[in-house]
Amino acid sequence: MKIAIIGTGYVGLVTGACFAEVGHQVICVDNDPRKVELLRTGGMPIFEPGLEDLVRSMTALGRLTFSGSVAEGVAKSEVIFICVPTPPLPDGGVDLSFIEGVAREIATSLTGYRIIVDKSTVPVKTGEKVAETIRRYSPTKIDFDVVSNPEFLREGFAVEDLRRPDRIVIGTSSPRPGAAMREVFEPFQAPIIVTDTNSAELIKHAANSFLALKISYINAIAAICEAAGANVLEVAQGMGMDERIGRRFLNAGIGFGGSCFPKDLSAFIRISEQLGYDFRLLKEVQRINAEQMDRFLGKITDTLWVLKDKQIGVLGLAFKQNTDDVRTSPAIELCQRLLKEGARIRVYDPQAMPKARLVLPPSDKVEYVDTLEAVAPKCDALVLATEWPQFTKLDLPTTRKVMTTPIIFDGRNLLDRTEVESHGFIYKAVGH
Ligand code: UGA
Repeated sequence: MKIAIIGTGYVGLVTGACFAEVGHQVICVDNDPRKVELLRTGGMPIFEPGLEDLVRSMTALGRLTFSGSVAEGVAKSEVIFICVPTPPLPDGGVDLSFIEGVAREIATSLTGYRIIVDKSTVPVKTGEKVAETIRRYSPTKIDFDVVSNPEFLREGFAVEDLRRPDRIVIGTSSPRPGAAMREVFEPFQAPIIVTDTNSAELIKHAANSFLALKISYINAIAAICEAAGANVLEVAQGMGMDERIGRRFLNAGIGFGGSCFPKDLSAFIRISEQLGYDFRLLKEVQRINAEQMDRFLGKITDTLWVLKDKQIGVLGLAFKQNTDDVRTSPAIELCQRLLKEGARIRVYDPQAMPKARLVLPPSDKVEYVDTLEAVAPKCDALVLATEWPQFTKLDLPTTRKVMTTPIIFDGRNLLDRTEVESHGFIYKAVGH
């Protein structure tokens, strides 16, 4: 099929590349001319495993093209996917101005029937507003349909998730766009669920909030484990073996971050409020998440006592492994709070350092180093803040030798306590 993708961020670019891979003809549109130029010349604006090769090969095959013009995208496609950002507003609501702007541009570019699909995460009833906007701004009366198709990919695993989704949600009550959407997704051989548009939009917020709830739940259990002398890793394993619960998203740590969970929780609480429901359960999820960071910092200050002028090595800046994304990253928040206490920090991340420098600028208190091994020398403590698997390869005997005091705070429960302690470290983790 001929597909246009408006917005080439994490969702748009990966979706475009994976659609091209299964044989669709895709044009990716972005309003940032530098990004379009970068992509046209084989560059990559984001780090995502497997993406660069895929984009390159699809571009070479001519199945994936890039443009700065929505009108060109509309002209060259049957189905148009909106994948633009929906950033948070200060009041917890969602800024829908990019969606509205794209809807207006589509309206003025329409020359024949098109299916307009919203893939961005949006509040329930946005599809209705998009349709209304297109009707209002379209100079002629042209037939179109608006469909909701929420995206469930995880950053860091985006290509993998798109190739093999657990399910595909198509939100439309009309047969014509329903059939076209099935054709778009048929090559992915994944279960498809067709719902009304409002339900599809709700599925996204409900799913993300539930996953966030699962994390806060295990973080609360971790606090109880610490108080009771139990081990959250064992508790999570025992709980997770119940198929109704499942082991995934039961990793205790310094809390969830990223551009999705914190934003989607606030938005869902707010939307519920507007619909007349006080979603106190989700407010508690937020509270536990914030408290988790306080508790972890408490461990650091309890152990190191005074942080002023202490040298602390921080491993990880991205909000999680396999990504260069530092938006709402707990690791960055941790760094900022250590700095506020007067500590000096030396930081390392396998991918996120260029983006981290913009929010955590290098200074006499913030030193960036290029390798994992370069972090530890003369440190009073090391803090693991992101769950990068390569951090488990830390050479413990050498690290022990070069540190001023051998203390490791593991905010992601990555290391093995017995092994770390056998090398003479003081080891503090979360919930065990
Ligand atoms: C999340 C959802 O998992 C995706 O399904 C969804 O499509 C996406 O949001 C979105 O709305 O676009 P993402 O934000 O990429 O994906 O990252 P996750 O892997 O879900 O991790 C989110 C945060 O939770 C990270 O900070 C991670 O470190 C933390 N986390 C995750 C935990 O603390 N414990 C866990 O057990 C799992």
